Amino acid sequence: MVLRLSLTVALTLMLSTSVFAANLPDTNGKAVIEYLNKTDYQGWQLWPGKTKLYKGTHPHGALLTTYVSSGAYKAIEGKAGGIPNGEFIVKENYTPEKKLAAVTVMYKQQGYSPDGGDWYWLKYAPDGTIDKEGKVDGCIGCHRAVKNNDWLFIGPVK
Ligand code: HEC
Repeated sequence: MVLRLSLTVALTLMLSTSVFAANLPDTNGKAVIEYLNKTDYQGWQLWPGKTKLYKGTHPHGALLTTYVSSGAYKAIEGKAGGIPNGEFIVKENYTPEKKLAAVTVMYKQQGYSPDGGDWYWLKYAPDGTIDKEGKVDGCIGCHRAVKNNDWLFIGPVK
C-alpha cells in the first residue's frame, strides 16, 4: 500500500515535470518566438523598478521595455545571484518615435553555453524575422563585461 502510494506520487511528479518541460521551447528561434507570443510576454512583469519605454543605451535603441518571466522576476527581486533555468528576459527596442524596431531575448538553458552564462541569445524583427540567434558572438562579447551579474546590464541580480 505504502509502496503503491509512493509509486503513484513518483509517477505524478515525473509526469508533471515532463509536461512542464515540454511547455518550454527548444533553443530555436522559431520555437522561442512562438512560445513568447503564445504566453503573451507583454503581459509579464517588467524588470523590477523599470517602466515601459525607459531611456536606453547603445546598441539597443533609444527607448526600451524589458519584460521578465515570473521565475526570473522572483530571482531578481530576491537577489538570487542569477536567473534560473528556463527563464526569459525579453527586451523590446524602440526608435525615438516609439516604433518597435527589434526584440532581443536572453533565454537561460542550463548546459547550453557554459562559456556564455548558459544563455541562448535571440534578436528578431517585429514581423518575426530572425536576425541573430544561438551563441551569438556579438551579444556574448559585449555582455561578457557583466558576467559577474549573470551577464545582465540592466540591474543587479545579487
Ligand atoms: C555593444 C554592447 C552590446 C551588444 C553587442 C549587445 N548588448 Fe544587449 N545590452 C547591452 C546594454 C548596455 C544593455 C542594457 C540596456 C539598458 O537597459 O539600458 C543590454 C541589455 C540587454 C538585455 C536586457 C537584459 C540586460 O542585460 O540588461 C537583453 C535581453 C539583451 N541586451 C540582449 C542582447 C542580444 C540578444 C544581443 C545580440 C543580438 C545583444 N544584447 C547585444 C549591451 C549590448
